[in-house]
Amino acid sequence: MCVFSSPSFDQHELVSFSHHAPSGLRAIIAVHNSNLGPAVGGCRMFAYTSDESALEDVLRLSRSMTYKSALAGLPMGGGKAVIIGDPETQKTPELLHAMGDFIQSQGGRYVTAEDSGTSVADMQTIAERTEFVSGVDAEQQFGGDPSPFTAEGVYLGIKAAWQHISGSKELKDVRVAVQGAGAVGLNLTQRLIESGAKVWIADVNQQRLDRAQKLGANVVGVEDIVDMDVDILAPCAMGGVINDQTIESLKARIVAGAANNQLARAEHADHLRAQGVLYAPDFVINAGGIIEIYHQRANTQDQAQAHIERISQTLHTIFKQSEQSNTSTLSVAEQLAENTFKNSALEIAAAYAVSNNA
Ligand code: NAI
Repeated sequence: MCVFSSPSFDQHELVSFSHHAPSGLRAIIAVHNSNLGPAVGGCRMFAYTSDESALEDVLRLSRSMTYKSALAGLPMGGGKAVIIGDPETQKTPELLHAMGDFIQSQGGRYVTAEDSGTSVADMQTIAERTEFVSGVDAEQQFGGDPSPFTAEGVYLGIKAAWQHISGSKELKDVRVAVQGAGAVGLNLTQRLIESGAKVWIADVNQQRLDRAQKLGANVVGVEDIVDMDVDILAPCAMGGVINDQTIESLKARIVAGAANNQLARAEHADHLRAQGVLYAPDFVINAGGIIEIYHQRANTQDQAQAHIERISQTLHTIFKQSEQSNTSTLSVAEQLAENTFKNSALEIAAAYAVSNNA
């Protein structure tokens, strides 16, 4: 396993590994970029099949966090942590404490939050060993689960994408395929159905499907959801959904969902564009959770809501610029984000030069 030659390495500032034999912790923290502020991102626990896949995941996810926070206008950098292990069987208080010690040892360069395989309760356990957990400070309790806020942003993003291709602000009778009936997928489904959309949903977990059905969604098999003949595909399960195998048979006109790293490779954004599919870049549309995490610290929920609503405006700008420049929505979104976090580095360097010359 090599970090610097990994295909997902992109000038990351820090990649740190920890092994704690007594608890069995094996974890990686990656800080992609901290020009805009301390790197904030979730701590994922997953039974990775290899160390390489854990490294790839943390490198890609931390990079996405830099772009996500920059485009959401947050004074935060991009980071992520992964714990290698099955959250159902290997998560213990000792392991979470060891993770807390690991985060603390980074001195604040990385601030953690809940993610797939970790819960708010796990964050409370981690916070017994480190101050660098988002959503807690001396006066404040945990803000709780960010998923409803992510779902709100995805819902607004879906509306923006639909308006862009149809001119309509309404989702009545619009057909949406939701992959994943998890925390975000279920919440999104509820909002879509309340708006009059028709929803098909797939999951590997029957209990979650039962809940989706009660909301009024139609259940389909996991093999069938991605290439359904619908208006919108909303990936809300895992990354890499748009890949060499799935892209050709895609029938949806829009891909807009919560999952991180929906495209297996960046070139798939160009393929989608060539096929006439409008792609809402994942790190733009799924920023609701990180926006809420930011506002937990000082501001009110109203401010968080107003901030999340700006996701629609950002997407409208990206869609328009993509058309005008004949480039993919992903390229446009990355360029806009880089204009923010890379220019910020130039400003810092210029200020440093001035202070050194003074
Ligand atoms: P979750 O873990 O609650 O839900 C994921 C669901 O996908 C589970 O119900 C799981 O059974 C299902 N699933 C797994 N494999 C599947 C397959 N092959 N086909 C269909 N369903 C499958 O996760 P959550 O919180 O709902 O997040 C969904 C996605 O959005 C994840 O990729 C996450 O990284 C991303 N995301 C979530 C945020 C949040 O605030 N929760 C914020 C930003 C991104």
